[in-house]
Amino acid sequence: MKEHLIVFDTTLRDGEQSPGASMTADEKIRIARLLERMRVDVIEAGFPAASPGDFDAVRQVAAQITESRVCGLARANDADVRRAAEAVKPARASRIHTFIATSPIHMREKLRMQPEQVIERAVAAVKLARQFTDDVEFSPEDAGRSEFEFLCRILEQVIDAGATTINIPDTVGYTLPTQFGETIARLRATVPNADKAVFSVHCHNDLGLAVANSLSAVLNGARQVECTINGLGERAGNASLEEIVMAVRTRQDVFECDTGIDTTQIVPISRLVSNVTGFPVQPNKAIVGANAFSHEAGIHQDGVIKNRETYEIMRAEDVGWHANRMVLGKHSGRNAVRERLKALGIEFTSEEELNRTFARFKELADKKHEIFDDDLQALVTDAASAERHERFRLVSVGASAQTGEAPDAEVTLVVDGGEVHARATGSGMVDATFRAIESLVASGSELTLYSVNAITSGSDAQGEVSVRLSRDGRIVNGHGADTDIVIASAKAYIDALNGFAETGERKHPQAGVAV
Ligand code: KIV
Ligand code: ZN
Repeated sequence: MKEHLIVFDTTLRDGEQSPGASMTADEKIRIARLLERMRVDVIEAGFPAASPGDFDAVRQVAAQITESRVCGLARANDADVRRAAEAVKPARASRIHTFIATSPIHMREKLRMQPEQVIERAVAAVKLARQFTDDVEFSPEDAGRSEFEFLCRILEQVIDAGATTINIPDTVGYTLPTQFGETIARLRATVPNADKAVFSVHCHNDLGLAVANSLSAVLNGARQVECTINGLGERAGNASLEEIVMAVRTRQDVFECDTGIDTTQIVPISRLVSNVTGFPVQPNKAIVGANAFSHEAGIHQDGVIKNRETYEIMRAEDVGWHANRMVLGKHSGRNAVRERLKALGIEFTSEEELNRTFARFKELADKKHEIFDDDLQALVTDAASAERHERFRLVSVGASAQTGEAPDAEVTLVVDGGEVHARATGSGMVDATFRAIESLVASGSELTLYSVNAITSGSDAQGEVSVRLSRDGRIVNGHGADTDIVIASAKAYIDALNGFAETGERKHPQAGVAV
């Protein structure tokens, strides 16, 4: 019997720290439902002290998820721990994850604290957290650059104080696989009460080594991995869940443990996270990239036709590649749509909400013959953003381009309740559309990212557009989907503008002094 490797997903917390990837409570719940269905052991739903919005999102996830443990992050201080405790309270199984930096550079420059004060703070936070739940995780932030002896001292004391999971973060993605694996083995062998806690790892991908470091740690006794869908996360991201899970599953000849993950849910959740955050998955990304299971070279194709195992070490269907089958069309009824959305983890709280989604479905079905699961996910995301914001609303957009003529666009918007109209030319129809919108709203923002992704294949596929706008150091992402790229682009731009209009910016968990 293999040992269990705990999968701790932090897409909703560390993943959300990717610039512009912030999610609404509803989006977090949709993702959490799929994580639960995939049988993730622990879902880190957010950082409750960061903002009232994040508190609320964690609380809602805690109230709705019953199979996975729900975790909230807290800096090692009284207020944060209490806030996290309050947020995860409704959960059937909860965890508080508290952290403080332990590397010389972080203690000296960021915390401005002596090592002894850091230990005191960590112990107090763990003790307080234990008053609310018997499942407490402690992370020495920047452990990858911390001194080994100091790590041993602080870990021994937090375990004595009641920490049940010890998470070793390579916060800045600095370590190398052999070294990181050895650190885990040495910590387990040196910390006197190490056997009283589960050792976990949390690796960032700055050198592209997050998955390799995590796997090396698992080979050296770590029994929890912290990861995100599609490797989303701070800077270059976190270790990718799908890569870790499939490496461990595929190489059971090497690993003494396995996860309980239902791998057939991997591709659907990867698509959902990409859809909600607007971060496209690169085509050559392992497991979930569009090319991950396609063979181009003749010699490969020939081999695969004769015996798939000549060039494939995993089966596409085992990671959910064929789950996105054609499900609905023009003649599908309300119940069929409701049931399919339910299967995708989307439930409606009112008949009115279902009716609105069904009306959008019918509009799409008029334009697009076959409606796939990914189309439905995009439709719900699109509907949610359209309904969420009030300040700017797209009424209509028309654009034209002709060889030798400057492309132009005509846009009608509702701004603060009043209809306004503008026309502009640009270097292309999308550029003209954005110029027309800007002439109406004068946002003063800079477009820093524009990407188009075809949601499904075929020339009638919906295009999913993501834009990123930046203004005064604030970054917002916007998304829009439509069978027409110009309309999708206008929706995405307006979605982002509405992001600026929202109040209550989220704080970065590691920003400022961790007091
Ligand atoms: O990267 C990091 O150190 C973190 C901690 C909060 C675990 O995200
Ligand atoms: Zn992190």
